[in-house]
Parts: sequence; structure tokens; C-alpha cells
Amino acid sequence: MSSKPITVLITGANRGIGLELVRQLAEDKGRVKKLFACCRDPNGPKAETLQTLAKQYPDIIVIVTMDVCEMNSIQEAAKAIAPLLGSEGLNLLVNNAGMALESSLQTTTTKDMQDSFNTNVIGPLNIMKEFLPHLRTAAKASKISGMSCNKAAVINISTMEGSMDVTKETYSIAAILPFRVSKAALNMLTVCAAEEMKKDKILFTVLHPGWVRTDTGGPEGEIDVQTSVKGMLKVMSTMKDKHNGAFLDYQGSAMPW
Ligand SMILES: NC(=O)c1ccc[n+]([C@@H]2O[C@H](COP(=O)([O-])OP(=O)(O)OC[C@H]3O[C@@H](n4cnc5c(N)ncnc54)[C@H](OP(=O)(O)O)[C@@H]3O)[C@@H](O)[C@H]2O)c1
Repeated sequence: MSSKPITVLITGANRGIGLELVRQLAEDKGRVKKLFACCRDPNGPKAETLQTLAKQYPDIIVIVTMDVCEMNSIQEAAKAIAPLLGSEGLNLLVNNAGMALESSLQTTTTKDMQDSFNTNVIGPLNIMKEFLPHLRTAAKASKISGMSCNKAAVINISTMEGSMDVTKETYSIAAILPFRVSKAALNMLTVCAAEEMKKDKILFTVLHPGWVRTDTGGPEGEIDVQTSVKGMLKVMSTMKDKHNGAFLDYQGSAMPW
């Protein structure tokens, strides 16, 4: 990504795409200085692989407890991370944690929508707000002139199912209404953030990871998690000012809103 190692925060880092992001970034020697791998139950059985990975890279990976739906948890995580960031701030925040409920117009409940919005929209919003001072610090401290994931950036992991155009073609195959609606809101949130923060040179972009074989994507997914993450990291490494507020897939193709 750059010759200067960066600081990175990833949510939902204990399995699936989040865990693979941690693995590939840690394995890429010299790319990352500190990687804050956030998950809601670091000592539970679903975080065992992350714990093993953290032991392999003790100087890089810091596991932090964060439930993206709990404001207290986000604030406690920020309190633990702040002293470790130093004067160079946070370069890259990846809002990856997410949930996908299979439900249609006729079956979706208020709680389904509240849970989906809490996880997929309000969580990322609160995390962006909480870490904004550290992203600003990184933007000011960086010697890179334009926007970049090596300088100060927020990548929100969304989905093609959040696209209005794609929904017209795919709704009959998979309704997943709370997922579609909340990820469409995440897309809008990202564009709003991109507009509001462009004066601070912080990049905000939405990425679709592909249909990936994880617990969310299921075994029928088109690609494995390694391919998705390798692609997204490559796309991130090429992002500049023109990608602020963009919606791209893991291969760098523009997605329809
Ligand atoms: N896989 C696909 O095909 C696909 C397609 C489009 C978009 N995406 C998006 O990609 C992202 C990663 O998904 P994935 O495929 O890796 O799914 P996954 O394997 O099911 O992982 C989901 C992750 O989100 C975490 N999470 C959920 N709610 C959370 C909360 N309240 N606080 C903290 N962490 C929470 C989970 O933690 P726990 O282990 O604690 O539950 C887990 O780490 C999601 O945003 C998803 O919507 C995936």
C-alpha cells in the first residue's frame, strides 16, 4: 500500500471477511504498523482463530472488544485505542461488521429493521464519529498530498443488494429486505460523510465484497474470502480523490446506486 506503515481499525474482525482482512494485512510485511481487530466477544469460541493470529503478530495486531450496536462499547474501544495511535492518528477505518436477515415485505418485523439498522447503519455512523478526530490527525500528519487509504480513509463494506438497480433484478431470487434497505442507507451515509469531510481530506468509499463464501454469503457464494479480500485491498491501495463517495466492487468496477 505504501512504504510507510499505517494504522488500521477493522470491525467484525473475528470471522469471515473481517478476519481475512486482518490476516492479509498482517502478513503483508511493512504495510501496517498497528491493526486494531475489533470484535464483540474476543474471548469466545468465534474469536479463537483471531486470537491465534494475534499471537503470531504480537507487535501488529491488537484485539479490542467492540459491539458496534452499543455506544458504550464503541466509546470504551476508542478509549483503549487512542493512547496506542500516537501523533499520527488512524489512517484506515473499515466498517465491516454487518448482519443479513432473510425476510420480505410481508414477514419483516420492526425488530428486524431495528437490528439491521443498528448493526449496518447506526453502528458505522457512531464509529465514524468516534474516530473522526483520529482520522483528522492522520490526514494532517500525512505527507501524501491527495486522498488515500494510506492517509485517512473510511471504507464501509456494503453490498450490491443495497443497490436500487440491482434489487430490481435480484429481489425475486433473494428478498433479504432488511439487509437491502439498511445497506442502501449505509451507502447514503457514506456519500453524506464523503461530502461533509472532503475539506479534511478524509476519503469515504463503499465497497461490495462480491458474493463471498462466509457465514453470511453461504456455501453457494461465487468467490472465496481470500479472493474477495485480496481484491478489496488492491482496490483500496489505488483509491484517490476521485473515489471519494464512490461505490465499487472488489475488482474496482463502479456499482450502480
Ligand atoms: N459474504 C457475502 O457474500 C457478503 C456480500 C455482501 C456484503 N457482505 C458484507 O461483508 C461484511 C462481512 O460479512 P461476512 O461475509 O464476513 O459475514 P460473517 O462471516 O457472517 O461475519 C459477520 C461479522 O460481523 C460481526 N458482527 C455482527 N454484528 C456485530 C455487532 N453488533 N458488533 C460487532 N460485530 C458484529 C460478526 O461478529 P460475531 O462473530 O460476534 O457474530 C462477524 O465478525 C458485512 O458487512 C456483510 O454485510 C458480505
